[in-house]
Amino acid sequence: MAKFHVIIPAAGSGSRMHSQIPKQYLPLLSRPLITWCLDVFYANPKIDHVHLALHPQDEVWTKQLSNNPKLNVLRTGGDTRAQTVLNTLEKIDADEHDWVLVHDAARPGLTDELLSKLLDALQDDAVGGVLAIPLADTLKRADASQRVERTESREDLWQAQTPQMFTYGLLKRALLAAHNANHQPTDEAQAIEFLGLSPKLVTGELRNLKITYPQDLLLAEAILAVDMNKHSEHQ
Ligand code: C5P
Repeated sequence: MAKFHVIIPAAGSGSRMHSQIPKQYLPLLSRPLITWCLDVFYANPKIDHVHLALHPQDEVWTKQLSNNPKLNVLRTGGDTRAQTVLNTLEKIDADEHDWVLVHDAARPGLTDELLSKLLDALQDDAVGGVLAIPLADTLKRADASQRVERTESREDLWQAQTPQMFTYGLLKRALLAAHNANHQPTDEAQAIEFLGLSPKLVTGELRNLKITYPQDLLLAEAILAVDMNKHSEHQ
């Protein structure tokens, strides 16, 4: 039976956060940001392995931050996110038909409901796919002086989130092909698209935001605090 692997690329510098430490270690409701998504993957019985891809010189990670039998810590960080994921695929012990879910370390708002929805929607799919949300705002293209050049149609436009779920064999082939062609895919789906395939869009939620700027941390804290309150009311 196909296994389910998670890869968490966590080797970015997070320069837009203006922080001394990589953003996945910043405190979010008194716990390192990265531990929120790790716990979601540990708790889901379908997930077999969680591979955490760190920067080779990461000095912050220690196993006291998070430890679980599913966790496999690797120092496979590369110059780009795609390179980090490819390096990790080359190191892990997986079968061609196993599923790989790639999830940003900086998305702490993933829930078990969203993860299960993605798994249910894609586990029999021939290509795989991603969580994504239809674009809600009007889209402006800017000129060099940051004035509106034109308004783009938002029809049929979606924002890709993670996890992004593909089989091990297909994802590795796609990322290798992109690497050899000198393409720089900004997510796994784009590498699959380069092969002429169409990943499925599974409707996600805004709460699964990526922490990019300092103010995003406050938003994530507000969302997770509501979850914690609901949880304690039910106990
Ligand atoms: O920088 P950005 O927010 O797009 O990064 C998305 C994810 O990819 C983060 O979890 C980051 O740590 C990871 N990443 C990586 N290797 C890189 C660049 C980004 O693992 N070279």
